[in-house]
Amino acid sequence: MITERSYTVEPWAVRETSLDLDLLAQSESVFALSNGHVGWRGNLDEGEPHGLPGAYLNGVYELHPLPYAEAGYGYPESGQTAINVTNGKVLRLLVDDEPFDLRYGRLVAHERKLDLRRGVLERVCEWTSPAGTTVRVRSTRLVSLTQRAVAAVAYEVEPVGSRARVVIQSELVTNESLPDPNGDPRAARALKSPLEPEEDMAVGPRLRLVHRTRRSGLRVAVAADHRVEGPERTVTSSESNVDVARFTVTSVLEPGQRLRVEKLVAHGWSGARSRPAMSDQVEAALAAADHSGWQGLLDDQRAYLDDFWDVADVEVDGDEEIQQAVRFALFHVLEAGARAEQRAIPAKGLTGSGYDGHAFWDTEMFVLPLLTYTAPGAVSEALRWRQNTLDAARERAAQLGLRGAAFPWRTIEGQEGSAYWPAGTAAFHVNADIADAVVRYVAATGDVAFERETGLELLVETARLWRSLGHHDHAGAFHIDGVTGPDEYSAVCDDNTYTNLMARQNLLTAADAAERHPEQAARLGVDDEETAAWRDAAAAMNIPYNAELGVHEQHAGFTRYQRWDFAGTRADQYPLMLHFPYFDLYRKQVIKQADLVLAMYTCDSFFDEEHIARNFAYYEPLTVRDSSLSACVQAVVAARAGHLRLAYDYTAEAALMDLADLEHNTRDGLHIASLAGTWTALVAGFGGMRRDGDSLRFAPRLPERFSRLAFRLRLRGSCLRVEIGPDKAVYTLLSGPPLTLRHHGEQVTLTTDTPAVRPVPPAPQRPEPQQPPHRVPNAR
Ligand code: BGC
Repeated sequence: MITERSYTVEPWAVRETSLDLDLLAQSESVFALSNGHVGWRGNLDEGEPHGLPGAYLNGVYELHPLPYAEAGYGYPESGQTAINVTNGKVLRLLVDDEPFDLRYGRLVAHERKLDLRRGVLERVCEWTSPAGTTVRVRSTRLVSLTQRAVAAVAYEVEPVGSRARVVIQSELVTNESLPDPNGDPRAARALKSPLEPEEDMAVGPRLRLVHRTRRSGLRVAVAADHRVEGPERTVTSSESNVDVARFTVTSVLEPGQRLRVEKLVAHGWSGARSRPAMSDQVEAALAAADHSGWQGLLDDQRAYLDDFWDVADVEVDGDEEIQQAVRFALFHVLEAGARAEQRAIPAKGLTGSGYDGHAFWDTEMFVLPLLTYTAPGAVSEALRWRQNTLDAARERAAQLGLRGAAFPWRTIEGQEGSAYWPAGTAAFHVNADIADAVVRYVAATGDVAFERETGLELLVETARLWRSLGHHDHAGAFHIDGVTGPDEYSAVCDDNTYTNLMARQNLLTAADAAERHPEQAARLGVDDEETAAWRDAAAAMNIPYNAELGVHEQHAGFTRYQRWDFAGTRADQYPLMLHFPYFDLYRKQVIKQADLVLAMYTCDSFFDEEHIARNFAYYEPLTVRDSSLSACVQAVVAARAGHLRLAYDYTAEAALMDLADLEHNTRDGLHIASLAGTWTALVAGFGGMRRDGDSLRFAPRLPERFSRLAFRLRLRGSCLRVEIGPDKAVYTLLSGPPLTLRHHGEQVTLTTDTPAVRPVPPAPQRPEPQQPPHRVPNAR
């Protein structure tokens, strides 16, 4: 496990200064680079040693049969797993006949640094070969945010002390052998040699490989070009075979001399384009990268990130680790979505093979909120991807005997990929989550064209689903029975409060949008009768409540269940799903992740102050946080209920999920939702930010350790800066048209002329809620 000291704490970088080979897989995730289209894990340049080699192209997957012990109607037959595509980042090195391999010889110095402002991974190391030759290697790597097909590496070698003969082999490698998957059922299935060769080429410094997946029929092309700088008599050659294309550079270096190779790599894939077309596509992308050159790519990367940080930065005074972690989080969430362009944003982004590369509700409920207020262009693209998969969702709904669209619980291409229906198909809330993301994006941007062309259709088809999935009982109340909410330790329940409240919003916002866009709505077959039925269902939505306890129920009957035997559960029996049968988890009061508590964040105007506090106090002792999606939500609601100290501890848990490998699975890829949740914990937790129609409201309050929290947001064409101190908050409109927002209920109108300064009221005093034994968050 990574200890907290694995990386130095600094505001704009994540740096490791020694190499622990046992932690390679974790650091490969932390140091992964991506732009949402191409993802390169932070593997060492030489390819070996490695934890898990990884190069991914968003949307490239292979199909495999899904095994079932017992057959059943409507079970997805085929699974999709993202595959490791042709690896363009390899540069092998030979020093005086010996492979540069850090498992041998002596590593004199080592440093890797992820630079969050420049968007590059830098490495410097000094190594003495077993035969005693010492070299210094420097490399800088980027996955371009401005040219989405392109990644690049600059690799430099110099001898230290004595002359060295060096050979650099820059390669494209396909079908790398991958380590066997470990026993964790959540870890991804690795597919062996999924790519069949179609073309290989090596001419001078130019390389190209084209392959095709066997079952899914996707064509993958990768090409590279090189620029070499070295002493006279540096020679080069190249060759290729079906799975490797290689450019070799040989030189003899005196001390003080350097050999430098700049490698530009272009990627492409398609399910439709021919082999020649794919070759041309990557050659064209390479030509564009060549035109920019290495320095041009670096400059563009910096400029892109400068623009991002200008509107997205979060500053934390009082906790340097959280300051670093939130920038690390913003960086990786941006990388996961920036150039995904009508493709999914997977739960691990493109940083590892975890969860088979699938996207979940994580995208709409955790990742898109951050991007909505910092990089809204990525949000409309992610939602267009959902729109593009509507046919599959409609087919699924029809298969299930429902109307509208039933979006998949987990998927790459749009088909349901969950083989476990109680926590897959039954988790219908994903549909309302998508609808919520549409409404949030439109409110934040005012993008009416998007609402008309994309949002409306998503809202209508999901509203139809709810109307057909639920029913009015004899007294008129509307119920949605037999569904699974966010808490996966309860399944197939009646009237899950989160689901019902989100469905209610979905039905109402669909009806409103249909009225705003009557022509388009008519084209989708919506008439007044249908919208009236949606409104009726929403108005009659049943929200289960236990009057005796004075708390809302997570689902009907939940508070009547037996409590889980927390006292009899040992620390090493968490996560519970790996030690206890689901059947027992399902029938007891025990909660994997925030569910009712999440509803109090996403639908907070439904709950009054007292209920937020009471519900939170009731559900805290039942919530075990066996999902990384929980701590950030608990942070938000703890802050809302006035438990600032607890909110702070939860924020730190979300923030350090990957930097400290808290769940011991960072090796499989980063927890993109928890990273995004770090931002949410700060902005919605301590900033108290909530949606308020087309605007925002804030109710800021800082935990004791923070002396200042400042964040920037994009809202309706303006850029807003919120700066919170212990006693006052300052709202500054940095650019754009005037904005009206609320501060602790008071309306505040902002223009770019003058900031608004408002006092921060003290937090209400309430008894500290308890957590289950062994599940108290680490106190900071
Ligand atoms: C959580 C889900 C989540 C998935 C992917 C599971 O452990 O329970 O809510 O969508 O992980 O992050």
